[in-house]
Amino acid sequence: MLWSDYLARFHRERAGITELVLSRCVDRDGATPYDWLAELAGPTAQPAGPPAAGEPGDATPVLDLACGSAPLWPRLAGRTYLAGRSYLGVDRSAAELSLAAGRGAAPLVRADAAALPVADRTIRLVVCAMALMITQPLPRVLAEIGRVLRADGRLVAIVPASRPLTVRDVAVVAGLAASAGRLSYPNDAALADPAGQFRAAGLRLVGDQARRFAYPLTTPADADALLASLYLPGVRPRRVRAARGYLRALARVHATVPVPIRRLDARADRPPA
Ligand SMILES: C[S@@+](CC[C@H](N)C(=O)[O-])C[C@H]1O[C@@H](n2cnc3c(N)ncnc32)[C@H](O)[C@@H]1O
Repeated sequence: MLWSDYLARFHRERAGITELVLSRCVDRDGATPYDWLAELAGPTAQPAGPPAAGEPGDATPVLDLACGSAPLWPRLAGRTYLAGRSYLGVDRSAAELSLAAGRGAAPLVRADAAALPVADRTIRLVVCAMALMITQPLPRVLAEIGRVLRADGRLVAIVPASRPLTVRDVAVVAGLAASAGRLSYPNDAALADPAGQFRAAGLRLVGDQARRFAYPLTTPADADALLASLYLPGVRPRRVRAARGYLRALARVHATVPVPIRRLDARADRPPA
């Protein structure tokens, strides 16, 4: 099955599952991956400062790309300068967008990341949570981000990572891989060393960090939610059942599952128009 078909069905049937799981993943300070991303979208983050009246891009200074159920919306709207009208959520999934609308995120547009219905150089900040590893074709998606960003614009994104892991984590991840297989995404190779891809899109990578988050397993429902949030195209039902059994066994001993996340920070890298 093509990844695009798999993703369309996954998000139609499991809308909101990424947020459900990731909003329960915390680092040592109790911050979720969304909080970690939103840190870079704060009022002190440059160049994403308060929009000056009359500047192009005032109406949509923050683009939440592949917004899903819009877990970033409350975190961005909570920042002092981001009134509701300063947000634009874009996603391809109607089911995800309907959850986003239900929480008040607006405006929202159903569109493909590779063809953004946004004018050139009008966006001050693009945020993108857990999507750059699957949005295809990646060079086209990055070119779109580069196109819509103003000359002083910025992209901050989080994607799954394979590190850091503790020694104990390595065993947990190996146990999951033994049943469900190793998790992988279509843009893994490109994102292994993304600076060149970013440069080709008019973006300069200025930050690339990884942090360990942990998902607590205490009930069978926690185990099932985690499993449901994983993209497992082509994995046979027998192996999915084995993975469920493995995660439920971890839940019986109240284990945590490591969720390493990578945060990319890039700036538009071209002269002002
Ligand atoms: C793992 S979810 C992340 C959603 C949300 N940002 C979050 O962190 O909860 C990936 C999202 O990317 C969207 N998506 C995948 N490919 C896309 C594309 N080419 N254009 C727009 N959205 C896309 C999916 O519909 C889904 O909502």
